[in-house]
Amino acid sequence: MTETGEKKLTTERLTNMAFAFKQSGALLGAIELDLFSKCGTGGSTTEELAEEMGLSLTSTDKLVTACAALGLLIRRDGRCFNALDTDRYLVRGRPKYYGDYLLYQARSEYDVWKDLTPALRKPVLPSGMYHQMMSDPEIARGITVAGYNSSIAAGRKLTREFDFSPYRLFLDLGGGSGCYSIPACESNPGLEAVVFDFPNVIQVTREFIEQAGLTDRISTRPGDFTRDDLPQGADLVGVIGNLHAYAPDETARVVDRAFQAVSPGGGLLIIDYMLNEDKTGPLEPALRHLESAAYSSRGWVKTGAEVESYMRQAGAVDTMVTDFIPGSLTRVFGRRPA
Ligand SMILES: C[S@@+](CC[C@H](N)C(=O)[O-])C[C@H]1O[C@@H](n2cnc3c(N)ncnc32)[C@H](O)[C@@H]1O
Repeated sequence: MTETGEKKLTTERLTNMAFAFKQSGALLGAIELDLFSKCGTGGSTTEELAEEMGLSLTSTDKLVTACAALGLLIRRDGRCFNALDTDRYLVRGRPKYYGDYLLYQARSEYDVWKDLTPALRKPVLPSGMYHQMMSDPEIARGITVAGYNSSIAAGRKLTREFDFSPYRLFLDLGGGSGCYSIPACESNPGLEAVVFDFPNVIQVTREFIEQAGLTDRISTRPGDFTRDDLPQGADLVGVIGNLHAYAPDETARVVDRAFQAVSPGGGLLIIDYMLNEDKTGPLEPALRHLESAAYSSRGWVKTGAEVESYMRQAGAVDTMVTDFIPGSLTRVFGRRPA
């Protein structure tokens, strides 16, 4: 505070934002070298870690010091221990291992964000970013596998919070790896699902469905939901995690197509990044909104009220907007009259 009682301005906040890449560099380097897996439960010395990672003692000391300062490691009595979150999510082989997703996604988005300014100056491309990315089988595989790792927990959360039991057939549009359909069918024996996505994605989806032992209840349909015929007969249609990649006019059309695929009396469920009504946040949806510019995409993150209005325009009733993952994903649900 200054003498007049005003909060003293400093450059701290701006400096932290400008140099945040150093923190991500340290974290991603540590994940890549598998530092957290190598810190045994009894902790490890720098010498032991150097040997395990195949690095010099000096390099190891530098990495470990940065990780300790970031709170990723705890240094005690000459040994290094994992912090609670690194121990749960960044030790390879543990059930909640999250390192491959962080590495893949952060590394692939890094260059795109580095070149944000020229991208903002460029005109936007006419077709959606998923159309481009998923036309390459290798990219489609990378994104879909990373997507499974990042979203399977959200898929399980939806299964706990959304009552699938009244439904018989779930059409999962842009369903990716099947990370929502798989837990929904695992927890609801009376439910079947169809995952609809681009052909190169569907190849990978089938592998996840097979691993889950659900090939008898989850089928797949390759296609483009903006223009191909959609499977009919589903009493629940989901559009999860993909509408932010579409401009408002395209989104309204996709919502209308999805609604027409719902059988009378059924439900339409949309989950995505959505902004609050005055567009001041939350931060993650706001950054996703900007990210689409980095890809020169027409993608547009909408507010919950906008998505709800597309649903109502399509003919949905009893619409409802609720938080799904606070600060990140919002849920909009509506019913097709019987
Ligand atoms: C971010 S992923 C979300 C996957 C999954 N629903 C989830 O929430 O984790 C978006 C998915 O939508 C698919 N998608 C986007 N546009 C599509 C379109 N026009 N037709 C079919 N699939 C599409 C993408 O291929 C991708 O698999």
